[in-house]
Amino acid sequence: MIMIVHVPGDFYVPRGFTGDTRTIVPDSVVMWMANEYDLTHNGLLGLDPACGAYTIPRVLRTLGATQVDACDIDANNFKISSEEAASLTARGLGVGITKLGDMTQLFFDDKYDYIYTSLPFNWFGDDPLSPHYAMTLRHLIADTGMLLIDSAIHVIREDKKVPVASRQIKYFEALGFTLEKQINFTIDGQNSNFDNSYSELVFRLSADQPQTYI
Ligand SMILES: C[S@@+](CC[C@H](N)C(=O)[O-])C[C@H]1O[C@@H](n2cnc3c(N)ncnc32)[C@H](O)[C@@H]1O
Repeated sequence: MIMIVHVPGDFYVPRGFTGDTRTIVPDSVVMWMANEYDLTHNGLLGLDPACGAYTIPRVLRTLGATQVDACDIDANNFKISSEEAASLTARGLGVGITKLGDMTQLFFDDKYDYIYTSLPFNWFGDDPLSPHYAMTLRHLIADTGMLLIDSAIHVIREDKKVPVASRQIKYFEALGFTLEKQINFTIDGQNSNFDNSYSELVFRLSADQPQTYI
């Protein structure tokens, strides 16, 4: 089921961020998802395993989430995220363990009620992505939990239109997830990215065993 939602396109670039600002999700998209899926419900445990500028954990914790853990493979993103995490904790805005490294190699103690993340869009180019990423995420989610993927209907890369969301749906559905909803956002303002085509994908764990992904 596809739903269309209109939000303001305000996004926040933290001081010291050296990455591509086009990868940052607008706060308003995360806020809408938090409200729709009750992600800040007391006691829920969340994870963003590719946290970038820490947008998703920051917005969720600011809205009252109890605990949102995070990791990133990039040392600068990890530094920014750790500083933001500590500042939120000091202000009484939830807690969050922040780790540096490859999400498939790190050890997390818990099963999460939800994972909400933006995976690098270049993982969904023409070559198939290793199933290992989906298997890792599936293993980290509690049986009744959710996978929320911050995606885009398409991005332009080297003059080619890449249909990221449909490739991500195909990838995850082959590897143990069922798409429950796709929410496409239209965005106001100058600061919006990706042709106003943010698309949030909501998956549940499927009962079937993962198939081989081709
Ligand atoms: C699309 S960006 C995330 C943007 C983030 N949602 C935000 O609003 O700032 C993807 C992130 O994945 C990180 N990343 C790439 N490979 C990773 C891996 N194997 N494990 C963990 N993080 C990874 C990148 O360093 C990048 O920060």
